[in-house]
Amino acid sequence: MIMRVFVAGGTGVLGRRLVPQLVARGHQVTATTTSAAKLGLLEQLGAAGVVMDGLDAVSVGEAVASARPDTIVHQMTGISVAHAGKPDLKHFDRWAVPTVRLRTEGTDHLLAAAQATGVSHVVAQGYANWNGIREGGWVKTENDPLDLHEGTAAHTSMKALRHVEDVVVGAGGAVLRYGAFYGPDAVDDQVELVRRRQFPLIGRGTGYASWVHLDDAASATVLAVEQKAGGVFNIVDDDPAPASEWLPHLAACAGAKRPMRVPTWLARLLAGEVAVVMMTEGRGFSNAKAKRELGWELRHPSWRQGFRKELA
Ligand SMILES: NC(=O)c1ccc[n+]([C@@H]2O[C@H](COP(=O)([O-])OP(=O)(O)OC[C@H]3O[C@@H](n4cnc5c(N)ncnc54)[C@H](OP(=O)(O)O)[C@@H]3O)[C@@H](O)[C@H]2O)c1
Repeated sequence: MIMRVFVAGGTGVLGRRLVPQLVARGHQVTATTTSAAKLGLLEQLGAAGVVMDGLDAVSVGEAVASARPDTIVHQMTGISVAHAGKPDLKHFDRWAVPTVRLRTEGTDHLLAAAQATGVSHVVAQGYANWNGIREGGWVKTENDPLDLHEGTAAHTSMKALRHVEDVVVGAGGAVLRYGAFYGPDAVDDQVELVRRRQFPLIGRGTGYASWVHLDDAASATVLAVEQKAGGVFNIVDDDPAPASEWLPHLAACAGAKRPMRVPTWLARLLAGEVAVVMMTEGRGFSNAKAKRELGWELRHPSWRQGFRKELA
């Protein structure tokens, strides 16, 4: 069935892969940007472009009302240099302010607009990279809680993710907890740091992460839209792995030298607690539910082959 889909945040790394997949399936897509200069990009991707500020309830209400969608997809984040400045793990809470606001106020504005316009289904971006609860095994399902990382600079961000899950699932929608993205433009910043040998392994690199290729993240999103899915889904590849495996492989695929090793005490001083927790205690995620319930099939089941293809 052809659907009218509203993609809030159509110009981001994921939006740029998602919009063409929706269009290819025959859906009518309206997609947003905060910048009139990017409307042409959205049109090239096959969407009707609209300027919208996700932090302004009136702007969101008007954009949704004029698009009259069947489904709203929330892909707004503020992590680009343009929106948040240079990534800063040590001051994660300061750097994450735009994204936290988009995940709290922005989500609430979209849900209010959905209700006002009679849109029955919302799909929103969640996160399943290293943030599984830090107890028990290294790989978590949707039944395991996310870690709120209380007492660290990541706490506000983790609370914002919980807010998205609470309100979107509460409204009958789906939250797709995407792993760390790789694919066109998604890891350029990290690769640059690895090349400059400024992305070391911390401690023994025992913390797990989950990755997902942007095109697989987009195809899972299309399935969630078409099936009007409800609930939380981990959208990650088949291969959660510790930093001691994925980081040296990323470096090798990017033609960089092997990452240096830094003891945890020194990393804590230089990069802060969040970086240490991520690389030594992080928990990855299982995608079994998304495969089973959405019928999701990955084109890039493992970052091991995926990095080789994308970073060569
Ligand atoms: N490895 C990873 O997991 C990962 C994941 C994502 C991104 N990244 C890195 O982060 C960089 C930025 O990624 P990105 O382009 O996806 O993020 P982004 O620039 O934060 O964009 C996400 C989307 O949200 C929109 N947006 C931002 N602020 C908004 C607001 N106030 N109201 C409404 N919409 C708003 C953006 O629109 P406009 O900018 O068009 O206004 C864009 O469409 C990338 O270059 C990539 O290297 C890494």
